Amino acid sequence: MRAIYLVGFMGAGKSSVAKELAKAYSLPVYDTDREIEKAAGMSVTEIFALKGEVYFREMETAALKKIPKENVVVATGGGVILAEANRRLMMQEGMVIFLYADPVEILTRLEGDSTRPLLQGDKRMAVQSLYNSRLPLYKQAAHHEIDTTSQSIQEIVNEIRQRMKR
Ligand code: S3P
Repeated sequence: MRAIYLVGFMGAGKSSVAKELAKAYSLPVYDTDREIEKAAGMSVTEIFALKGEVYFREMETAALKKIPKENVVVATGGGVILAEANRRLMMQEGMVIFLYADPVEILTRLEGDSTRPLLQGDKRMAVQSLYNSRLPLYKQAAHHEIDTTSQSIQEIVNEIRQRMKR
């Protein structure tokens, strides 16, 4: 089975869905953020603060390249689709699923969160601006799109499994 890549905004549920989906298929799960943290020996927040976003994006591309391309479920960071090379790799090597969530829902889910370096300051403005600039890239980078806005993790997993059968 080709790798299944989950892409989407912060707070779309990529990591939680990836874990459950991997369980359902009995496959290992990878998370690009965790792979980056292991390689850097620092948290994502520390990498952004000490090394900057450009460095983080380089590590993200390297992590994506390193993760196996078969029989795995991969949760990606929300910005993985920014690099054309990442979009191409995922589209060519695996099945890419865009987990959509509307911006109001994203804001609710991330209300008390302080772990996202790109959402410091005015969260509403940051989410809106990232949402507007990234939505076309997620759509362009995915084979399937699933609206997670009012679905449970299990419902999303079931929908992905249905789509994989087609
Ligand atoms: C980012 C999303 C984060 C993490 C980093 C940058 C982004 O991952 O990779 O903070 O640019 O959207 P999650 O989508 O898992 O929060």
